[in-house]
Amino acid sequence: VDHEDTADGWDQRYGSSQRWWSGHVNAALAAEVGHLPPATALDVGCGEGADAIWLAERGWRVTAVDISEVALDRASRAASEAGVDVEWLRADVTAGDAEIGTYDLVSVQYPALPRTPDGSIIRAITAAVAPGGTLLVVGHDFDADHHPEHGFDPAERMQPADLREALDSEWTLEVDETRPRVNPPGHRGPDVPDVVLRARRR
Ligand SMILES: C[S@@+](CC[C@H](N)C(=O)[O-])C[C@H]1O[C@@H](n2cnc3c(N)ncnc32)[C@H](O)[C@@H]1O
Repeated sequence: VDHEDTADGWDQRYGSSQRWWSGHVNAALAAEVGHLPPATALDVGCGEGADAIWLAERGWRVTAVDISEVALDRASRAASEAGVDVEWLRADVTAGDAEIGTYDLVSVQYPALPRTPDGSIIRAITAAVAPGGTLLVVGHDFDADHHPEHGFDPAERMQPADLREALDSEWTLEVDETRPRVNPPGHRGPDVPDVVLRARRR
């Protein structure tokens, strides 16, 4: 079943299964932030919270935002079970009025955000990175051989390349590559390579 990219659509998607994602940290996140000293972090579109919990377990002070209440309830329960504190925030990051603050790390893993013509989402994401902070965006490298599972059009969604294009001289591009995805245990779905973008704000 295809669901819409709305809060209700995501709640229905999550609600159709006891658990949607693997519950394990995304390998690209673990690989890209291991060298950073723990500080403040924002997880954009945190889903069921595995990345946020992983960061919190490593000493990061994490704020995790998602549009889906169902996902956030699960995330919050998983954090309690793991014995860590994460600030869970229900917000639509496309709304433009979300007060999300600034962070030393902003992680956007496999976003499902619309590509807004006015660039407002890009601005909201980059504005959340504090001076000296790191932006990490990981997406799927959909191409002729790798199609999205749920029938959406990747061209309608924000991709790491859209963020790369928006980075000006204030930013140092540290990682910009496509590489095989390291799947978590229990991964379902096709093997689509990762597009990994990591940039540091001066
Ligand atoms: C493909 S999932 C990725 C989840 C998680 N980052 C991961 O890697 O497992 C995209 C997530 O973005 C959330 N989302 C979609 N649109 C959003 C919006 N406008 N504002 C905030 N979160 C949104 C969805 O609820 C979903 O949890």
